[in-house]
Amino acid sequence: MRFTGKRAVVTGGASGIGKATALRLVSEGAEVWIGDIDENGGRELAATSNERIHFLRTDVTQAADIEALMTTADAHVVFNNAGAGGSRSPIHEISPEDWDRTQSLLLRSVALGIRYAAPLMIARGEGGAIVNTASIAALQAGAAPTAYSVAKAGVLHLTTMAAADLSQFDIRVNAVCPGFITTNIFTSALGIAGDKCAVANGAIGQIAAKAQPLQRAGRAEDIAAAAAYLASDDAGFVTGTHITVDGGMTIGPRHGWDPATPSLFTALEAFAA
Ligand SMILES: NC(=O)c1ccc[n+]([C@@H]2O[C@H](COP(=O)([O-])OP(=O)(O)OC[C@H]3O[C@@H](n4cnc5c(N)ncnc54)[C@H](O)[C@@H]3O)[C@@H](O)[C@H]2O)c1
Repeated sequence: MRFTGKRAVVTGGASGIGKATALRLVSEGAEVWIGDIDENGGRELAATSNERIHFLRTDVTQAADIEALMTTADAHVVFNNAGAGGSRSPIHEISPEDWDRTQSLLLRSVALGIRYAAPLMIARGEGGAIVNTASIAALQAGAAPTAYSVAKAGVLHLTTMAAADLSQFDIRVNAVCPGFITTNIFTSALGIAGDKCAVANGAIGQIAAKAQPLQRAGRAEDIAAAAAYLASDDAGFVTGTHITVDGGMTIGPRHGWDPATPSLFTALEAFAA
């Protein structure tokens, strides 16, 4: 019960990682305000929460919406998590408008989440914890399109800079970098809806199980556990950093001396005897 007596904000809390994190925080004693554009999903979750989860329609591309969410919740813990795939165009084709839309959804939203949450934490004088959702796409190419990856890299450095600004108030700022996590983000990006969603998510789950060294699909609950740790007093001396939760996706391939990895070295072994 690490969050007893604590109020928390989770953006993007109607689905996936945000929903799992809202439920995790509630299971540990928090009262949670979720901000999302998905009114059905948000209200449904709130309705089944025994009044531990409240829904406020929030579009994180709108500064006034974020300010209203933060003011209403007056939270000790903030999880800036809402997001979607953004533009898939390569850098030599992307329009200025698509670039701005993607940065607004994925980077500006996090900056403004911190901007409007921190003064309330400072005024309360009890410190606070802010966790931002970045991605392994912030760390290397190959995980997501360009505008998304650059925005997520921005989230990581924003996390560092905000931690530097806010540590004097005992406000910690950290990030999680999810790998391939089976949520609705992929079907949403492809515009797959309704009954087809479950079928497509089943197929995505099978691909996800083989996508990294740990041979199972990443779950929203895996990220919720890391976010809850960073938001809790267990991480009381942790700020300005990130936790990668990716089943080993970013550790790279097996080394060339591994007999299970055909390579120049294994091919030459016959000559070494
Ligand atoms: N699933 C993955 O593999 C993965 C990997 C790395 C990072 N992420 C990041 O995790 C975060 C959560 O994504 P998810 O995988 O849970 O996807 P999801 O689609 O299940 O959930 C995203 C939520 O954000 C909401 N949202 C979208 N645009 C919004 C807006 N303008 N204002 C408010 N809410 C909005 C959606 O309605 C949805 O409820 C995102 O920031 C995403 O980029 C996901």
